[in-house]
Amino acid sequence: MTKEKIKELISQLTLQEKIDMIHGSELFATKGVERLGIPPFVTSDGPRGVRKDFEKDKWSEIGLSYDYVSYLPCNSALAATWNRELAYAAGKILGKETRGRGKDMILAPGVNIMRTPLCGRSFEYMGEDPYLVSELVVPLVHGIEENDVSSCVKHFALNNQEERRMDVDVEVSERALREIYLPGFEAAVKRGKAKGIMGAYNQLRGTHCCHNHYLLEDILRKEWGFEGIVVSDWGGVHDTQEALMNGMDMEMSVTDNFDNYYMANPLLEMIESGAVDKKTAIAEIDKKVRHILYVMNELHMLDGERYTGSYNDYADKAALRQAARESVVLLKNNKNILPLNKKAIKKLLVVGENSNRQHAPGGGSAEIKALYEITPLMGFTMFVGGNTEVVYKPGYYNEDVGNIWANTETDQNGQADSLNQDKAEHKDTASSEAKAKRQREMNENYLKEALEAAKDADAVIYVGGLTHDYDTEGQDRKDMRLPYEQDRLITELLKVRPDTVVVIQAGSPVDMSAWIEDADSLVFSWYAGMEGGIALAEVLFGDVNPSGRLPETFPVNEKDCPAVVLGEYPGGDKVCYGEDIFVGYRYYDTYEVKTAFPFGYGLSYTDFVMTGLRAEVLEDTAQSKSVKISFDVSNIGSRAGATVSQIYVSDKCPKVKKAAKELRAFEKIYLEPGETREVTLILEKDAFSYFSEETHRFCVDNSSYMILLAKNADEIVDVTEIELQADS
Ligand code: BGC
Repeated sequence: MTKEKIKELISQLTLQEKIDMIHGSELFATKGVERLGIPPFVTSDGPRGVRKDFEKDKWSEIGLSYDYVSYLPCNSALAATWNRELAYAAGKILGKETRGRGKDMILAPGVNIMRTPLCGRSFEYMGEDPYLVSELVVPLVHGIEENDVSSCVKHFALNNQEERRMDVDVEVSERALREIYLPGFEAAVKRGKAKGIMGAYNQLRGTHCCHNHYLLEDILRKEWGFEGIVVSDWGGVHDTQEALMNGMDMEMSVTDNFDNYYMANPLLEMIESGAVDKKTAIAEIDKKVRHILYVMNELHMLDGERYTGSYNDYADKAALRQAARESVVLLKNNKNILPLNKKAIKKLLVVGENSNRQHAPGGGSAEIKALYEITPLMGFTMFVGGNTEVVYKPGYYNEDVGNIWANTETDQNGQADSLNQDKAEHKDTASSEAKAKRQREMNENYLKEALEAAKDADAVIYVGGLTHDYDTEGQDRKDMRLPYEQDRLITELLKVRPDTVVVIQAGSPVDMSAWIEDADSLVFSWYAGMEGGIALAEVLFGDVNPSGRLPETFPVNEKDCPAVVLGEYPGGDKVCYGEDIFVGYRYYDTYEVKTAFPFGYGLSYTDFVMTGLRAEVLEDTAQSKSVKISFDVSNIGSRAGATVSQIYVSDKCPKVKKAAKELRAFEKIYLEPGETREVTLILEKDAFSYFSEETHRFCVDNSSYMILLAKNADEIVDVTEIELQADS
């Protein structure tokens, strides 16, 4: 359908019909206009797969068996793969299943930057670095949208904490906004051609993001040329006039009073009463409808043949397993404890409640009704086979359901209450004290049992970490400590069995300082999707060589985090991002703060060397810069494996304050033992630019730039230098 035809269609719509198209008339859908062949627009969460179906106007699940789906690795897991192809493959599956389930838009991916490790939704995002996020979100969106469905990149923008997320007002410099917080969204829109974007709950500089003219009109539409639909976060609209005028296309919420949504009857009344100029209002409404029809047309919802999609295809499980494998990050492996040799293990002890827990049903709107989820305990048992006895001891007592939104009494999802921050807060003090007491008592026995069993096991694997009572929408963690007295358990276990393999399964960093020195082997595993448990087994037993890299710095604890030291977190009604551009490694590096594990870190069972770094300036004009980087990577160990070569750029004589270095390119390379490969990468103007507050644009200064070839943010293996002229 041409633009002209869309215009013609709009001219045939009544005002009421248009208004029906721009707000929810169900919890996840808007109304269509049957007489003109315009279907309803149906959305669904979320980032880890297509969410179960709810009743149209209630948060009670339909409860039939048809909506069990593939459960994908969470975004922080995907980011830990540092693998663009896997991001594309995951997107393809997500898009196919979205269409297969009859939806038009998937409310994913999440690309907010991890400003603080405590943010409850870190597991839904891709870490702390805008370049890594941008490189992964583009293929992810391409994969999704190949299936005649729209993505909905969220939450635009600065939704970096759950604490007071509905209203918190973010104060951030223009430079940090442009360099740190917007690039992921910009890449999704400009390179990924995303057709949907979701406004965030919070405010930016005094206006809610869902009707923030600067974000939605000036930046998104005018600067980036976005043609798709801006959807509100559920309950994110607070003002009819602002939503009308400032670029919000589709208002969604969690309540069932659909006709009373800001962009429903109140909008109609505003026009009819003359409170707003009718012509202006209708022109704005037409724009919104045009965006919706544009997307519907692109998805073949108005004419042409539309892809049908499907879900739970067995062929897709291989890609999901591969993503899970590549997300596992090996953090320590002294004395080569790993990989374990299954033939030598007659009795395997698995300690830790997380090994036996399914995480798919938790986390808030990212919850998944998974077709299956292979837990670590199941994965280990499947993998070692019948000659090994696998003994499980929970080690710590955890009575949490793993989903703070689950209301077991009414069987209703707690999302209806999610606009009311208090209800999402941790349970009241009296019940949490009682719970802690119960936990302490139970833990005594659980600890004893685990220690006893550890004595005569041939190998001990501990799987602990967090659950979705901690990594969750609607709530930040209070600190980075492990819950359920795990520090004591791990410490004691390591005394009895120093060779215990410690696996932490979580969606965000945890404080490991109580026992990290004592642990010889340490593995970080995320909520890695339905194949997560078996993928972990393959890594621990050596069938798969780990190649995950941290997409975020692991600080020693939350007190070291730049948002706390230089900025404000959690702040009050306002939160000032005083750390400016010094987020994640940009801070730890520049201010020389010791971390537990640096950004980009991860070990392998083989050894790689990177040598011969060369840089050649191919182009250096005011408009364009192009620098060719080459180097060799060799696998000098005895196993095949993959490494991630990371290129950081550092300005030697910066004219403004800059981070010590910034990630500007990376490549994941698979090598057989003894194999060497030459890698060539091109750095363009972006790699040398910063956002100037003075000229309000990205610019390059005349300077010497160091090109750093690195294994991670702390381990530079080679350096070379180039000169570039200023771009103006
Ligand atoms: C979340 C969104 C989600 C929406 C719909 C909101 O609470 O912030 O990420 O897509 O609900 O469930």
